[in-house]
Amino acid sequence: MTAARAAYSPGVIAQRLEITSARLRMVLYGPEQAWSLCDHVVRNDVHLARWSPPHPEGYLTEAYWEARGKRNLDDAEAGRAFRFAIRWRDEPHGPVLGLLSLTDVARGAQQWANLGYGLDEREQGKGIMTEAVRAACAWAFTEQRLHRISASYMPGNERSGRVLRRAGFAVYGYARDYLFINGAWRDHLLAALVDPRELDPGARGV
Ligand SMILES: CC(C)(COP(=O)(O)OP(=O)(O)OC[C@H]1O[C@@H](n2cnc3c(N)ncnc32)[C@H](O)[C@@H]1OP(=O)(O)O)[C@@H](O)C(=O)NCCC(=O)NCCS
Repeated sequence: MTAARAAYSPGVIAQRLEITSARLRMVLYGPEQAWSLCDHVVRNDVHLARWSPPHPEGYLTEAYWEARGKRNLDDAEAGRAFRFAIRWRDEPHGPVLGLLSLTDVARGAQQWANLGYGLDEREQGKGIMTEAVRAACAWAFTEQRLHRISASYMPGNERSGRVLRRAGFAVYGYARDYLFINGAWRDHLLAALVDPRELDPGARGV
């Protein structure tokens, strides 16, 4: 445990949150990971620009990621959002491969979250994001007991569409001018995945 982490003491949930899959380890990031997160976004700024909203102020600085890491732990603690840094499973201190988030968690009658992700340009084409999305959704359904996860992608982002399709998502709509991405309001395809165990209510204990 680093000094930064020891000094900041969120509750047990946020401290321990980690999802592993065959090749990957996804850790709920905190302020102690500011350097590696900043390194990831700086290296991939051009690659991700086409698919990203405008940067908040200071986005490409370590100070920004330190503050965001703290907020991330608070959000997880409150059950509002869960944002993970993806690394190779056997390289826990290696570079960040990508980021994956489950945000806008809605409880009550909804039990929903929104999925977002982005991968290091050099790591594309290895099946990383499909594996990460599958593992994160399984975790959200089992551990968070969510019912539905939604995601959206621009019609030109076929690669992202294939990730979602491989992970079981179904496209259910088309939204005009849905998100402000890369300097303009962009149309998006809307996709969602419902907990597959809903087909077998017994598996959920209901
Ligand atoms: C979209 C994005 C996340 C895809 O990441 P990825 O890891 O390359 O996606 P996948 O996990 O599906 O892997 C892609 C390819 O790897 C291949 N692959 C290679 N090894 C594999 C393995 N061991 N297992 C599975 N697939 C493998 C797959 O066949 C797949 O090929 P295809 O896309 O031509 O069908 C990435 O391109 C990205 O970050 N893009 C910019 C940001 C972005 O678009 N974000 C989403 C906005 S909605």
